[in-house]
Amino acid sequence: MEQAGPDFYNDEAVFANYMSLRQRVDTANDTLEKPVIMNLIQPIIGKRILDLGCGDAAIGRELLQSGAVSYLGVEGSHKMAAVGKQTLADTTGEIILQTIENWTYPQASFDLVIARLSLHYIANLAPVFTKVFHTLSPTGRFVFSVEHPVITSCDQGWTSGTPRQDWLVDNYFTTGERVTHWLGGTVKKYHRTVEDYFHLLQQAGFIIDDLREACPQRENFYDIQTYERRSRIPLFLILAASKPA
Ligand SMILES: C[S@@+](CC[C@H](N)C(=O)[O-])C[C@H]1O[C@@H](n2cnc3c(N)ncnc32)[C@H](O)[C@@H]1O
Repeated sequence: MEQAGPDFYNDEAVFANYMSLRQRVDTANDTLEKPVIMNLIQPIIGKRILDLGCGDAAIGRELLQSGAVSYLGVEGSHKMAAVGKQTLADTTGEIILQTIENWTYPQASFDLVIARLSLHYIANLAPVFTKVFHTLSPTGRFVFSVEHPVITSCDQGWTSGTPRQDWLVDNYFTTGERVTHWLGGTVKKYHRTVEDYFHLLQQAGFIIDDLREACPQRENFYDIQTYERRSRIPLFLILAASKPA
């Protein structure tokens, strides 16, 4: 039976597999996604930061050390939220156990909202983007990453647990629910086209500042073979947008 995002990460086996995956050398998160996010969210100093689907909140700790004035993580999985609270234990950072869809967003309270690899678990993004728009102060920024639409379109030809060697892009314009096997569980995700993400931001009132596909940079990898494999297909789509002044 497939699980929605937070339930999936609450699953004992999935949670253990995810935490151990994130400890590996040259993870796609560390080599591809995080460098782009860090580049797009500068400058950090003085920022009030909201992180949607914050997971272990490791970035929260880092952002506070880099001069952010506050960090609040919203996380729907109680297992992840517990790890996040531990990560931030001796900092001013906070975690709220709540879903991205159901949290009550305070008006004009943040300078930067980030959402790293959490939004493709959400069925209806339009109301979320509207809430993000309202929770940002004027000129505030929204930077998020999702699994790249060429990846979410179709997972045929892939055996979970093995390094993927061939990628099939299919049913690209048939958007909506996708069920996939990953980390020993079965999860429900939502496929959208690149255009969909772009238009959802515009419809919420954002000005789009940048669009990135996490092109691999050799200096971010220890292992050349991993670098070469990652050069074959984009794994992540990252968008940066601003609320007008
Ligand atoms: C791939 S993990 C990424 C965690 C973290 N953002 C990072 O990049 O390290 C996705 C996270 O989003 C959370 N998540 C997924 N759907 C969510 C929802 N609807 N509301 C809140 N959190 C959600 C999951 O529980 C999980 O912690």
